Amino acid sequence: MESNLNSPNSADNQQQGDSEQEKLKGNSSFSRRNFLNTVGLGAAALGLGQFGCASPKKTAAAAAPAAPAVGNKTIAGFDEVGGTDASVHEGWTPVSNRKVRVGLVGYGLSTFSGAFSFQDHPNVEIVAVSDLYPDRCDKLAVRARCNKKYPSLEEMVKDDNIEAIFVATDAPSHARHAIEVLKHGKHVAVAVPAVFGSLEEADELYEAVKRSGKKYMMFETSCYREDLYAMKQIYDAGGFGKVIYTEGEYFHYGDKALPSYKGWRDGNPPMFYLTHATAYYVGVTSGSFTDVSCIGKPSHLPYLQGANNRYKNPYGTQIAMFRTSDGGSSRMMHSKDTKGWGAEEGRLRGELGSFSRQLGYQGDFKDKLPNTKRPPLPPGVAPGYHGGSHGHLTEEFIRAILQDRQPWVNIADALNMSAPGIIAHQSCMKGGETLKIPQFKMWS
Ligand SMILES: NC(=O)c1ccc[n+]([C@@H]2O[C@H](COP(=O)([O-])OP(=O)(O)OC[C@H]3O[C@@H](n4cnc5c(N)ncnc54)[C@H](O)[C@@H]3O)[C@@H](O)[C@H]2O)c1
Repeated sequence: MESNLNSPNSADNQQQGDSEQEKLKGNSSFSRRNFLNTVGLGAAALGLGQFGCASPKKTAAAAAPAAPAVGNKTIAGFDEVGGTDASVHEGWTPVSNRKVRVGLVGYGLSTFSGAFSFQDHPNVEIVAVSDLYPDRCDKLAVRARCNKKYPSLEEMVKDDNIEAIFVATDAPSHARHAIEVLKHGKHVAVAVPAVFGSLEEADELYEAVKRSGKKYMMFETSCYREDLYAMKQIYDAGGFGKVIYTEGEYFHYGDKALPSYKGWRDGNPPMFYLTHATAYYVGVTSGSFTDVSCIGKPSHLPYLQGANNRYKNPYGTQIAMFRTSDGGSSRMMHSKDTKGWGAEEGRLRGELGSFSRQLGYQGDFKDKLPNTKRPPLPPGVAPGYHGGSHGHLTEEFIRAILQDRQPWVNIADALNMSAPGIIAHQSCMKGGETLKIPQFKMWS
């Protein structure tokens, strides 16, 4: 499998000139007074250097690194690169001169822990990296410009020098790994979904985050897509009024499952992986789904037939109708066995206005829309893949730690995006019976 992947070591990471490196080195003893004096200046003028393993890199518009592929086909989502012109960095101001000491875990098919520019963030020091496979760990170390390696997450969490870990391991391990990180007194960011098929783990994870007092963030890429981010700003400004209907879909065809650690992708129920769609309601409104009825058609593809997978899952496409916490309705679907265009997309209809990726906003607020542009990114941090969402997720997580506030997407939003799919699959297996969904709320 590994031989199918492009080299993760991107050429754009090597392009900084000596003079730029010298300038950044000179700033490595950046004092608090200097910091305060320079807040408000352009990002390039600031020049926060990288400490620890990762060396200083770019100050201009950052380019996305090489995308993972199977054979010569780029994996869906990694073909959607966000804006790379310098305007994505314009106006960025740091909130601190501190470096958050980060560990990166998981370098499988998606080379994910290396794909979010943690190693390029001026407020991050990469302390160590890990993957169970030594060759993957070595590649991640090169990409993150870090020599310290651990053979597993379980070993890494014992390192007292690490403050925060990005977990990009296999989906079934996300909850267990996040709990392990939190138990060791560290902040954690996790690839989607927060939980995979287990409601018990959802409760355990929620309690672990609450008990720990640490930051938990789920890296739902849809949340920082241009359209969803804009919808959230307009929703917060009142531009939709009451939301009546939302819909979202994740279309990712595969005549067989993509490679994965211990085969977790082999025939799993589409509803177990619904967050790219559910984000189009939960991410916009911070509401939740309360009830669900889900239907599907038994799949024509062998790996998505109940007798052929460990999940006993007969579906390749499932469509869920949800009742929402604000009394509206929502249609969310995931399809793996229909050919045609791919999508991670959604739409919203409200009393005062509606929004789609293609048409933007239409409604009463069209002359008084708020600023919907995504926040500026630090120098060197690429918007990256999945519609230019990667860099924003990293920036939000690091800022939340530095500002000691809850990140977006917090644990309640993460579980309200992830758990409904588990119940939806149960409903589907019961012929569409309407079932109640557990609710998660932040405690403060
Ligand atoms: N748009 C998106 O948000 C998006 C896109 C792609 C992948 N993902 C998510 O990213 C995650 C990673 O995806 P992938 O395709 O690389 O998965 P994968 O199954 O190919 O790789 C998982 C990796 O985690 C490593 N791992 C497992 N347990 C570990 C441990 N205890 N310590 C250290 N390493 C461990 C494995 O060795 C493996 O290399 C998945 O959960 C997937 O759902 C999200």
